[in-house]
Amino acid sequence: MSLKLTQFRNLVIGVFAIAICLHFISISDIFHYHWTTQPKSAETSQIPQRNDITKRDIKQESQVKQQNGTLNVSTDQELINYLAKYLDVIWTVKDDPHYNTEHILFLKNTGPKRISQTDWKIYFSQTSILNPNLKNINDSYPKNVAVGEDQNFILTLVSGSLYCIYPRNSFFIFFEAGRKIKFPLRATKLQRSRTNSFPNWYVVGSKSKPQIIESTKGENLNFVKPFGSQLTSKERYTINYNHTDLKGTHKYVVPSPEEIVVMSNKTIILKPEEWTIQTSAEFPNEVMYLADALKVKVATTPSLNKVIKLVKGKLIFKNTKSAESDEAYELKIDGISTEIQITATTGHGVFNGVQTLLSMADNIQGSGPIILNSVTIKDRPRFKYRGVMLDVARNFHPKETIFKLLDVMAMYKLNKFHFHLSDDEGWRLEIPDIPELTQLGSKRCHDESETLCLMPSFGSRPNIDDQGPGFYNISDYREILKHANQRHIQVIPEIDMPSHMRAALKSISLRASHKGTPRDQYKMTDKTDGNNYRSAQGYNDNIANPCRDGLYAFVDTVIRTVVEAHKDIQPLTLFHFGGDKIPKPALQGMKCKDNKTDLMQLFIQRFFQKKQFTNVSFGAWEDSFLKPDKSPYAIESMENIAQENRSVFAFVYQEENKALFKLANSGYKVINSPDSLYHFDHPYNKDTDERGSKWATEFINTKMVFAFDPLQGKDGYGELKKPENIVGVQAHTWTGLVQTTDQLEYMMFPRLIAFAERAWHHAASWHETNNVTDMERDWIEFINHLVYKEFPKLDKLNVHYRIPPPGAIIKDGKLHVNTYYPGMTIEYSVNNPGQTKQWYKVTGDETLSEPIILRTLSTDGKRHSKEIELDRSIW
Ligand SMILES: *[C@@H]1O[C@H](CO)[C@@H](O)[C@H](O)[C@H]1NC(C)=O
Ligand SMILES: *[C@@H]1O[C@H](CO)[C@@H](O)[C@H](O)[C@H]1NC(C)=O
Ligand SMILES: *[C@@H]1O[C@H](CO)[C@@H](O)[C@H](O)[C@H]1NC(C)=O
Ligand SMILES: *[C@@H]1O[C@H](CO)[C@@H](O)[C@H](O)[C@H]1NC(C)=O
Ligand SMILES: *[C@@H]1O[C@H](CO)[C@@H](O)[C@H](O)[C@H]1NC(C)=O
Ligand SMILES: *[C@@H]1O[C@H](CO)[C@@H](O)[C@H](O)[C@H]1NC(C)=O
Ligand SMILES: *[C@@H]1O[C@H](CO)[C@@H](O)[C@H](O)[C@H]1NC(C)=O
Ligand SMILES: *[C@@H]1O[C@H](CO)[C@@H](O)[C@H](O)[C@H]1NC(C)=O
Ligand SMILES: *[C@@H]1O[C@H](CO)[C@@H](O)[C@H](O)[C@H]1NC(C)=O
Ligand SMILES: *[C@@H]1O[C@H](CO)[C@@H](O)[C@H](O)[C@H]1NC(C)=O
Repeated sequence: MSLKLTQFRNLVIGVFAIAICLHFISISDIFHYHWTTQPKSAETSQIPQRNDITKRDIKQESQVKQQNGTLNVSTDQELINYLAKYLDVIWTVKDDPHYNTEHILFLKNTGPKRISQTDWKIYFSQTSILNPNLKNINDSYPKNVAVGEDQNFILTLVSGSLYCIYPRNSFFIFFEAGRKIKFPLRATKLQRSRTNSFPNWYVVGSKSKPQIIESTKGENLNFVKPFGSQLTSKERYTINYNHTDLKGTHKYVVPSPEEIVVMSNKTIILKPEEWTIQTSAEFPNEVMYLADALKVKVATTPSLNKVIKLVKGKLIFKNTKSAESDEAYELKIDGISTEIQITATTGHGVFNGVQTLLSMADNIQGSGPIILNSVTIKDRPRFKYRGVMLDVARNFHPKETIFKLLDVMAMYKLNKFHFHLSDDEGWRLEIPDIPELTQLGSKRCHDESETLCLMPSFGSRPNIDDQGPGFYNISDYREILKHANQRHIQVIPEIDMPSHMRAALKSISLRASHKGTPRDQYKMTDKTDGNNYRSAQGYNDNIANPCRDGLYAFVDTVIRTVVEAHKDIQPLTLFHFGGDKIPKPALQGMKCKDNKTDLMQLFIQRFFQKKQFTNVSFGAWEDSFLKPDKSPYAIESMENIAQENRSVFAFVYQEENKALFKLANSGYKVINSPDSLYHFDHPYNKDTDERGSKWATEFINTKMVFAFDPLQGKDGYGELKKPENIVGVQAHTWTGLVQTTDQLEYMMFPRLIAFAERAWHHAASWHETNNVTDMERDWIEFINHLVYKEFPKLDKLNVHYRIPPPGAIIKDGKLHVNTYYPGMTIEYSVNNPGQTKQWYKVTGDETLSEPIILRTLSTDGKRHSKEIELDRSIW
């Protein structure tokens, strides 16, 4: 199986501009060149002079003014409230696979009043570069560019993805009631999904409070008009065509175990009130966990039957080639002796066995006794490291969301939680010695001085009282560690350095301005370091200078705090310092007494010299470990690593660097997480209504995740000489476009289950043979298992996995439907706009003459997919 990633290549050109994830900075030299050019001076080159506006326009406008010049709003706040209530924002996009696509913004004054004041500004986020004059990829972000039909508004990039548009003083006359103003704009091509626009545009004046513009409120993005390719019901039907409904599942558990032997046809009927779990001196935590989950009592006296035992013991596998694992377990369900036994050498192994038992025992019917077949399962993981990265910096996700995610990760035997705690748009962990990091850095609101909060991004709301905590205090963080630890999940905190530090840098400069704090303690930037760069997300003030000592003082304080927080729960053994590459123009501007040219290497060397962090290994994005020619730095050059037996973990994601094997061969511990397969911030398919950004590829569907072998060397990867150094795989969810828990779960599930299958299950036979027929068969069994076993479990846990809309066609006058995950219920309704919909279950072969809409239901029937129209074109 070799997945073709041509879309990726096609997208590269556009990628530089936008992507919400920061980690592709090195994709092209074009990018570097781009930001070395100074923005043009707007006043001279871009804003037409007053004379450019035709006399006709002025005359027309003043005639209108005479007709009804009396309407006005009386106070500043009233004006802002009026605009918030009555401005209709309409965003239209011309779908075009090239960069430089046409976008049109319309603002309509739908209220009864004329606006003649100019003290108001509209702020909004947008991931594309917007500029009416954008002609090519090297053009700059807009700074004070005149926009609008009469050029009487100004558009400017505030920072990052935040734009501002406002009346142009002395050009703007008034905004008549009922008038719609058109703003033709150009944008990079990456507005290819509606969710590249953000809700919660707001309007504010110099003397008034900001108000969210009603027409842009909420997550439904109604102001973004549909555009571009929506998948038709017919296209969906074709995609789903071979997804046969097997009417059930034969799999015992997912991820699939290594060995299953059916022992007898005698089943166990497990009535929790009749069974006991035997106490265990070795595995007390696992006994408690299982007792709690199954609602079975713990017994101190041994019982002869109807008992579950957790036992310490060694295991022998049929396959002697695979490496031994301390996570291995055996689960024996014996219907003859009515006994269940889990055997392993470690608590983690027992816990894995417990998860398999719980999965098999999950009574999806909801009531009645649990029936278990007599089997012996012997099992162990393919990869030691089976990780999930969650970005809580771009959008904060509360600890309850994290607890739930950890619960589900444990179900699927995922054992590493990479916690992306800081980025340009937010700092999420309390550091008591530097309280400003969370006082300022965890909050976003409208505050141009950025001393109270950071300016909004990704559609966050402008009022500070309108938001949650935005960070984990030390006790929240320790609760998360405990929850993870009970589930044998290691938490790997990431503080991204030395770039992506905007939230930290703003907080540190606030701290420096406070009386009584040492001014230069954490000083890691200076005006002399220059700001003649733009990061991939549009910032020119987000990078610390690796030559400044304050950065290392900061590192000390932060890591000391983290080590302390982990100490008695789960000692810190791996810390991720981000380390994505600094854009060249930024590096060139940095003052450095060491006269070093390779500042990234300087950073890593100084970072690794920190002897006080005994036993802590370090990890970073691959960029950190690659020289400009993309070959790895010698690991021996990293002082203290070799002597102290610590490891360096490289998180590989940029496929074009072809670094997977090179880094492993050089002694790095490598985690594979290809951006075009394991980055679940991408949409599930090409439909422009699907949530997600497209920075690495057009889409990532569940089958692509299922069918990819993470050990597969792509062409040009060379030879893998140290396979033992590829320690694992990781799935990533960047959250710039993911605001809520429901959205997060939609992006993760069910792709994460397919990922878990590959991470845990030993190489499927088809990996070695490339036999597509075998892969397809495995896939069909897998998706049937999802529908008949896993979705009902997720429903019970209230995990909002994605429900794809159905496929549907009319053939021989009759309705034919199918679903991506086979066997899910489909409903239809007559499509009469304006009338209440009446939903009917599709039974098959309906003859329908009216236009209809269709939807798929979740397995519990409580949620449904997006509703789509039936495509009546001939199949
Ligand atoms: C003001 O003028 C607009 C046209 O520009 C018109 O639609 C509206 O009805 C007028 N309002 C009043 C109160 O005359
Ligand atoms: C509208 O109000 C502003 C100040 O709020 C005032 O300067 C202006 O003259 C008023 N315009 C009209 C037409 O009343
Ligand atoms: C952008 O600048 C680079 C470097 O000068 C140049 O090679 C490239 O052709 C430019 N791209 C366009 C579209 O003008
Ligand atoms: C279904 O599978 C068959 C056999 O692999 C293949 O020939 C056919 O093209 C597939 N049909 C669709 C619509 O994908
Ligand atoms: C169970 O297996 C035994 C022996 O193989 C057989 O005699 C019996 O009929 C089987 N019972 C069922 C219910 O299949
Ligand atoms: C930490 O935050 C939680 C809310 O998430 C709060 O209940 C708790 O009191 C805080 N603890 C401390 C020590 O501030
Ligand atoms: C710094 O580097 C430059 C260019 O590599 C070199 O010309 C200069 O002599 C160096 N300065 C010092 C103080 O080493
Ligand atoms: C480091 O690890 C060793 C071996 O696991 C352990 O004995 C030692 O206590 C650890 N040191 C610290 C400071 O945690
Ligand atoms: C590092 O590992 C080597 C070989 O495994 C061992 O001899 C040495 O004592 C270890 N050093 C430390 C500091 O643990
Ligand atoms: C793939 O495997 C199937 C059996 O599962 C076999 O019938 C078929 O010949 C194999 N195809 C190839 C190309 O080896």
